[in-house]
Amino acid sequence: MHELMVRGLVLEAENVLTVELAGTGLPAWTPGAHVDLIVADGTVRQYSLCGDPASTTLTVAVRHEPAGRGGSDWVHRGLRPGDRVTVRGVRNHFALEDAPGHVLIAGGVGITPLLPMAEHLARAGTPWRLAYIGRSAARMPFLHRIGALGPHATIHETAVSGRPPIGALLDEHPDALVYVCGPATLIEAVRDALAARGEAGRLRAEYFQAPAGDDAAEAGAFTLRLERSNLELIVPADRSALDVVTDAGVDVLRDCEEGVCGSCETTVLAGEVEHRDHVLTAREKAANSCMMLCVSRAAGPRLVLDL
Ligand code: FES
Repeated sequence: MHELMVRGLVLEAENVLTVELAGTGLPAWTPGAHVDLIVADGTVRQYSLCGDPASTTLTVAVRHEPAGRGGSDWVHRGLRPGDRVTVRGVRNHFALEDAPGHVLIAGGVGITPLLPMAEHLARAGTPWRLAYIGRSAARMPFLHRIGALGPHATIHETAVSGRPPIGALLDEHPDALVYVCGPATLIEAVRDALAARGEAGRLRAEYFQAPAGDDAAEAGAFTLRLERSNLELIVPADRSALDVVTDAGVDVLRDCEEGVCGSCETTVLAGEVEHRDHVLTAREKAANSCMMLCVSRAAGPRLVLDL
């Protein structure tokens, strides 16, 4: 955990505030990373880092969602320069991988992890492309930084010209990995376009919320051993491991409870996991060394966790 000070607040676009955080011993980070912000009531919210990794401050962008769960309201209405906030992290499940090229597709405030990626790729000199899609320019943060990236980055206002054809974007770099962050509808459109080409493996996505239909998977009961707490617990078919662990008095951070934010990531010491989250990459899931307790379960009868 890091105790940081709010150094600056900037209204980047309609309802989008950037929060610049300063402090000592800030962790190093790479494009695609996010931090957990501990909100005033003790809950946790995830925000992608959108500044420059070489900077001595951390910057996140927060869209105000008045009907949301309160995190953005706290940031927009409650935070003032000089306030102290608690931050956990940094973690990165959306990092740039080596590839012949990179296509980045951002929807709305989903630009936040992709912007440092684009700035990195522009310096690296490998083939890349960024399409930044939003309803209107007034609602789209960081247009000045997008403009500085040159012709590889394009801005698409759907209120003016609709969503750009996904297939045409994919055609520009047929061997590229495709990074998408934004609403589930955008991610699903890209996923479908790649799947139709038999290229689903090119997709790298960061969700804001779980895709529809996630509840369908069948669940079975299993045993959890919490090694450090010396506890043995049963997780029934109709409950999450996160709820069972919390009820036993063991604290684990939580936010989305849908397997998209990464807050409840826990180290697995033994046993095989049935991963149901949208945070870990295929390689991380195959490594079987951690799991999201809110949605993932045991593939066998028992799991041992580092809790
Ligand atoms: S609480 Fe968000 S991934 Fe588990």
